[in-house]
Amino acid sequence: MKKTYDAIVIGGGINGGSIAYHLAKRGHHVLVIEKDQLGSKASGAAAGMLAAQAELTEDGPLFQLAKKSRSMFPTTIEELESKSNVHIGYVNKGMLKIAISEEEEQQLKHIIQLQKNIGEQTEYLTSEEVRAYEPSLSPIVRGAMSIPTDGQVSAYDLTIAFFRAARVLGATIKEETNVYSLIIKNNRIQGVVTNEGEFHSERIIVASGAWTDMVVKQTGLSLPSYPVKGECLAVKTDKPLLTQTIFSHHCYLVPKKGGRIIIGATMYPNTFNTTVSTGSVCSLIEKASIILPEIINTQFEKAWSGIRPQTHDGMPLLGEHPHVEGLIIATGHYRNGILLAPITGKVTADLVEGINLDHELIHHFRIDR
Ligand code: FAD
Ligand code: GLY
Repeated sequence: MKKTYDAIVIGGGINGGSIAYHLAKRGHHVLVIEKDQLGSKASGAAAGMLAAQAELTEDGPLFQLAKKSRSMFPTTIEELESKSNVHIGYVNKGMLKIAISEEEEQQLKHIIQLQKNIGEQTEYLTSEEVRAYEPSLSPIVRGAMSIPTDGQVSAYDLTIAFFRAARVLGATIKEETNVYSLIIKNNRIQGVVTNEGEFHSERIIVASGAWTDMVVKQTGLSLPSYPVKGECLAVKTDKPLLTQTIFSHHCYLVPKKGGRIIIGATMYPNTFNTTVSTGSVCSLIEKASIILPEIINTQFEKAWSGIRPQTHDGMPLLGEHPHVEGLIIATGHYRNGILLAPITGKVTADLVEGINLDHELIHHFRIDR
């Protein structure tokens, strides 16, 4: 019997999850196909920062997209937690983007001014003010950009919550299922071929992270994208060392529940190799200990890596394939895929339905830009 769906999502990462959730919520019969396990790639590796203002400093389409997504978190989390029964660990205690050198301090003050000019909430804190909030930080910290509205989540739990909620709303989810090829007739998408046979739909969304280029290659389209490996580690402590996320040019420290602190992350472009090197772990710990000396006395827990999907111009790719009707691409979220997941799900569901399109903004992310 022919297995036909309203839409098929290829990829069990956070973006596939958010897209499946938004489509299922709008009443579509959705199939998700994941070659390994849900959240097993970049989405499970992420630190979970919602760093719209810390990572993206200047105004522009990506900054606007990120801010829209950040504003969707409170209601998205509420909906997902009640539907999925997964605790997502959403914390809205803000972030401190710190400066260590004089040059970094000048840069921060410039960014604060730029963001204030467009109405963002942020202010400069002196070294003493920073340590009044976070007494364990080293006096080497010269000052910080305080960002009260950049929060954080548990990235893996948010990913799983999207899928569980989508399933509650009727989505079918297949793990350990690899999409080998796309079925295309007369420049229209018709379905996919997998190790479990064929599945059919006239709306297929490729949200396969750093592997998206490989999935769409047979269409003759070469995406302007490449993988960037990131390594992270976690330590545990009984002492309350941090209340807010500390973000710097050198590394970041994200305090999680149960006394865990995530320290990240390295950046190695053009590799799909996921081994974690001893040198990377040493280097991250060294950078972290300059900012937070007590890190040396914490208990080492584990280290891991993930592959970020980056694009040549640094902007996500969100839109319909230029030559294949019904084939939609959602990738290139690079360092901010967790932050951008809610808006990616909404915009992609709009693209599938051909409605509500925020043309002004979405135009900047189209595939043939
Ligand atoms: P992925 O999570 O990689 O999911 C794609 C899925 O597609 C995979 O599960 C893969 O197995 C599947 N797939 C691929 N090919 C096929 C196929 N042929 N058939 C079936 N399935 C297929 N972002 C933030 O916003 N905040 C952070 O703090 C943050 N920290 C990060 C820290 C690290 C160390 C890393 C590596 C990334 C971090 N990111 C962060 C970035 C974020 O993790 C990514 O942008 C995001 O997870 C990308 O999600 P995705 O769903 O597009 O891709
Ligand atoms: N956004 C943090 C990272 O990608 O490492």
